[in-house]
This record gives sequence, C-alpha cells and structure tokens, in this order.
Amino acid sequence: MVTDPLVRLDRASRAYPRTGVALRPVSFTLARREFAYVVGASGSGKSTLLRLVAMIDAPTEGIVEVAGFSSTTIRPREVPVLRRRLGVVFQDFRLLPDRTVEQNVAFALEVTGVPRQEVWARSAHRLAQVGLAARGRAFPHELSGGEQQRVAIARALVHDPVLLLADEPTGNLDPRAAAAVHQLLDEIHAQGTAVLMATHDVAQVRRAGRRLLLLREGALVHDGTAELAPRGELAVGQGGRR
Ligand SMILES: Nc1ncnc2c1ncn2[C@@H]1O[C@H](COP(=O)(O)OP(=O)(O)O)[C@@H](O)[C@H]1O
Ligand SMILES: [Mg+2]
Repeated sequence: MVTDPLVRLDRASRAYPRTGVALRPVSFTLARREFAYVVGASGSGKSTLLRLVAMIDAPTEGIVEVAGFSSTTIRPREVPVLRRRLGVVFQDFRLLPDRTVEQNVAFALEVTGVPRQEVWARSAHRLAQVGLAARGRAFPHELSGGEQQRVAIARALVHDPVLLLADEPTGNLDPRAAAAVHQLLDEIHAQGTAVLMATHDVAQVRRAGRRLLLLREGALVHDGTAELAPRGELAVGQGGRR
C-alpha cells in the first residue's frame, strides 16, 4: 500500500503585500517519522515555510498538504484539529508568564476537554521527558532560557503530535542549552515523531548528517545532506542570526 507523505508542498509560494515574495514556489515532501532541517540566512524564508506547514498562513499559490489536510480544502473549523496533530516551538518560548510550568503544559490539553486526571498524567510524563519533573511548580521567569525552551517542547508534545515544527528553538540559548535542545529533539524523533527544524546551528547540522532544506532569498536551492550543499552556502546562514 502506498502511504501519503506526512507533509507535501507542491509549488507552494507566499507573498506579502508590502514586502513582496517571501517564499518562491517550493516543492518537497516529508515522510512520517522523518527529520529535516530548514536552513538559510536571516530573511531567506524559513519561518514563512514553517508557517505554511502549520497552516498558520495559507500559500499565495500552490498546495500545502499536512497529515491528510490540504490548504485547498481545509475548513476554518478543521484548522484546530490539524494544529492538535502538530507541535510548534518558537525561538522565544512563548510560555504564559502567570502560570506555572505544569499549568503551561497542561493548559494545551485542558482546553480540548481531556479528563483532569489524564491531563496531569500526560503533562507530568512530558515534563519528565524533558528533564523538568521537579520544576512543575516554578514559574517561567524562575527558569533559565534552556529550561523554558524545554517546557515549551513538553507543551508541544502533550498532544502526542505526528510532527514537531521548531523555528530556531536554540536561537536564544547558550551553546550548552542549545546542545540539550538538539539532543532532546533527536530523542523525540527516535521515538517516532517527524521533526522539521529551522536552525542557524551549522555545526550541529553538519554533525547530524541529516537531510536539510536550504533556502536562499525565498528559493529552495538544496534538498539533501550538508556535504552536497552548494559551497559556502551553509556559512551564510550562520552569520544571519538575529
Ligand atoms: N508577516 C509578514 N509580512 C510581510 N513580510 C513578511 C512577513 N513575514 C515575513 N516577511 C518577509 O518575508 C521574508 C522571509 O522572512 P522569514 O520567513 O521570516 O525569514 P527567516 O525566518 O528565514 O528569517 C523576509 O523578507 C520578511 O521580511
Ligand atoms: Mg525566522
């Protein structure tokens, strides 16, 4: 039996009224359980690409298909259903400052009507997975940046997503905390979750030897491993950190 890819972009592009083209027509597929990096200089379209996959934005032209939903046919009331199949993590964590760590993780499940006991069991499991079982009662501002990002990852996983989208999750972290986040995403991938991760961390990308999607000025210029990427291109992304 042929199974559909988890993600398929078919000549998907995105333009904005004032700034023009953010993403030129891009085509690629991501299989279930696959891991790919999205790399490129600042402004090359990484976040735009991830927003299309999360269906936070719709493509200007072309098609985006994710987990059985298509940008051409998805109804507004189906978008939350898709969102629950995805986990999303951002560079700036986006935790609720007035809620504890465990409330931040549990909140995403509570709003979907999961029974209370199950909410707390699943939240505790995910906090343990990211190494923060003991910090559940803390507030976000009491944690380091690396710990806050791990809380955000626990929150993203609490729905048991088929795909984790991470937009430069290590961009605000020191090298040690960044390495911990990379390792955590590797573990999550090893347990069967597909991962699409935008990153500036060229050293990590080279070390991992995985597939990468390289963007330059909104165009997908390479889809493959780092060794085969255009010469010098990966160093450009490194200098583009904001
Ligand atoms: N909401 C938006 N409105 C207008 N222009 C945008 C918007 N988001 C991104 N852009 C533009 O699209 C291009 C790609 O941006 P982005 O996807 O954020 O790149 P990256 O994440 O690689 O830094 C940039 O030129 C940026 O200015
Ligand atoms: Mg970005």
